[in-house]
Amino acid sequence: MSSDVYVFSELKPIERYKLLCGIVVPRPIALVTSLDEAGRVNAAPFSFFNVFSEEPAQIVLGLQHKAPGQPKDTTRNLARAKSFVVNMVDEPLAETMNLCATDFPPDVSEIEALGIETAPSNLVEPPRIAAAPFALECRKSMSLAFNETRELLIGEVLAIHARPDLTDAKTFYTDAQRYRPIGRLAGNAYCRQGEVFEMRRLSYEQWRKDTGR
Ligand SMILES: Cc1cc2nc3c(=O)[nH]c(=O)nc-3n(C[C@H](O)[C@H](O)[C@H](O)COP(=O)(O)O)c2cc1C
Repeated sequence: MSSDVYVFSELKPIERYKLLCGIVVPRPIALVTSLDEAGRVNAAPFSFFNVFSEEPAQIVLGLQHKAPGQPKDTTRNLARAKSFVVNMVDEPLAETMNLCATDFPPDVSEIEALGIETAPSNLVEPPRIAAAPFALECRKSMSLAFNETRELLIGEVLAIHARPDLTDAKTFYTDAQRYRPIGRLAGNAYCRQGEVFEMRRLSYEQWRKDTGR
């Protein structure tokens, strides 16, 4: 099959961004709540976000500065504070999440400006968003600055608030049909969860039996 090759060393950052954001999809969205030095609650969405382990339970956030030396409010807050909350975004929370990406000045709390209802966290200071289907209380583990405009933040999940109809407290399984997460595609495009399907993972032995090899 033929292919076009995009060599990253020959591309402008914006071209790499467009390629990566259009191709590595859908990305989950972390609506992060954090506290500024005056105790105001900041909320902002991040789709350079994922989980990468359970022991310790770690999540990552890709934080881009507005300009060299000008970090976003979340980045500034997390440079000082030790904790934050990742509120997961489902269909009902989508519009609110998008409004939180408005470039409010640093002294304006998205939570106050948009009238978003919060609820206290158990183990960390920043509150969670009451309507979020899940909220991950996190402690900052470390932050890696790759250059003047890009930081990778790693956080440890200390606790999860889960809507009781979504996660079974006995089995720890989450109902994939009921949970309606939205995913970020490129630019202003998002997706809803489509049809859920299952595939059984085979052992080598089973594969050999099935294929006769
Ligand atoms: C769906 C979505 C995903 C986003 N993902 C990121 C991201 O991964 N990294 C980033 O730096 N900004 C991301 N942004 C932009 C920030 O949310 C935006 O700059 C926001 O205003 C930052 O707010 P703050 O200054 O209060 O932290 C995203 C925006 C949207 C709408």
